[in-house]
Amino acid sequence: MIFKYKCEPFNGPVKPATVVFLPIGPDSIDRTDGLASFRLLIQPHLTSGAFKGQHLEALPLFGSQDTWLVIIGLGPLEKLTEAGLLAAAAQAGQTLNKLRVKEAVVSLPSLAFGSIKTLELICTGFKLSLEPRGEYKSVKSEPQPIIKNITFQTPSASDFIDRSKSVLTRAETLATAQLEARYLTDGPAQEFTPEALAAQAVEAGSTKMFKVTVWDESKLEIEKAGAILAVGRGSVNRPRMVILEYQGAAGLAKDSSTVLIGKGVTFDSGGLCLKPAENMNLMKTDMAGAAAVLAILKAAATLKLPQRLVGLLPLAENMPSGSAYRPGDIVTTMSGQTVEIVNTDAEGRLILADALTLAHKYNPARIIDLATLTGACQVALGERCAGLFCDHPQLLKSLQTAGKDAGEHFWPMPFVEEYEDNLKSDLADFKQAGSRAGGAINAALFLRRFVTKNIPWAHLDIAGTARNTKARPGCPEGATGFGVRTILKMLTEF
Ligand code: BES
Ligand code: ZN
Ligand code: ZN
Repeated sequence: MIFKYKCEPFNGPVKPATVVFLPIGPDSIDRTDGLASFRLLIQPHLTSGAFKGQHLEALPLFGSQDTWLVIIGLGPLEKLTEAGLLAAAAQAGQTLNKLRVKEAVVSLPSLAFGSIKTLELICTGFKLSLEPRGEYKSVKSEPQPIIKNITFQTPSASDFIDRSKSVLTRAETLATAQLEARYLTDGPAQEFTPEALAAQAVEAGSTKMFKVTVWDESKLEIEKAGAILAVGRGSVNRPRMVILEYQGAAGLAKDSSTVLIGKGVTFDSGGLCLKPAENMNLMKTDMAGAAAVLAILKAAATLKLPQRLVGLLPLAENMPSGSAYRPGDIVTTMSGQTVEIVNTDAEGRLILADALTLAHKYNPARIIDLATLTGACQVALGERCAGLFCDHPQLLKSLQTAGKDAGEHFWPMPFVEEYEDNLKSDLADFKQAGSRAGGAINAALFLRRFVTKNIPWAHLDIAGTARNTKARPGCPEGATGFGVRTILKMLTEF
């Protein structure tokens, strides 16, 4: 579905639906953002208490000339966050969809974020809320989005109208990338195997102008990628390593690359250390990191970002079988370091280890990995906040700033040196996992052994945030595409 966005001053004809955002407050409809002209329509509903302006409250009013006026609550303005505004816009999008509206005019509220950021967040919210669903249903139960035209009404200022065009294009590209990551992540594991995902990457590369190299098993053997091979050994769907290289604008220094790594376990059964049956189906989401990295590379190429990017997707299916790797095995990783396997369900850190080693070959200026790595991180930070492990103050700050801007939370987590003891092994260089306590930190400490000290590196544990348990405005139940917009913003703005 393609949106048409137009920005026009607040004087156009009334369209089949008009959307206004109403904050809570005594002067809420005396504001200069277009609300005042709807005073007569809105006031009775405020007076009767039918509409309070609470955050995400939606009131569609059927007006004259077969048009709708949709009022969306913003709640008290001092509490409105970037994520909150995005959700309010998504609520508006969902409401328009239910009303089967094809064309709408959105009156931009004047908020402390400033008009450009307000426009960007609202556009993102609309885009994220209007995606077709139910691909695998023989009969579609939910009505598919039919909205074609959204016009943003701005108070005036022609310079804003000029700038807004590029803001809208960028916001739409970023949101599209997030939807793409969701799509890849939500797909059933029987269809989205390592081989199939690699094929998707190859296809993307041919149209989007970045180079795609796929290592199959024999190449993984040659490269001594023992950790990926070990994890993938139990499945008939054989492992792959996908390398995406986007050169950026011409003339860039070779050392300016950012390497992005995405955990790509296409299904995590736990392997021989089998997970319980309950919720095992959700482990098709264990390649959310890889999906995010692929979507980011595609968007970066579309936006023609002026920087070199390398995306590494270690892809494997973690299954129990007669050929599966076992607890007690000793695996030689691509780095040459040996690892004693203690739990085949801690497979993510193994495939990431080989990818981190490979990352160093690209002389990276920074390495960022995204991984649904530990249940411990999900328990610690929940569904809306990812763990951010980073010892490099500047990289840490730019990720947090970009995250805030994108409406995504990242909480800094510590490398607790004392927990290094948890990884001591009598047999190999170190063990693959420590105790359950501090599980997210133990995993990060394991990964750190594969990163050269002076390279800025960030590890994002997205185990909790990659999946949404209950639908909310802008995100249905299922994959979230978390991290995609944050990383793209960080690459372009921070
Ligand atoms: N893919 C899981 C982590 C996960 C859990 C992601 C819940 C999303 C939601 C990972 O491979 C895993 O199983 N980790 C184990 C490690 C343990 C065995 C050391 C965990 O977190 O329990
Ligand atoms: Zn696992
Ligand atoms: Zn996993």
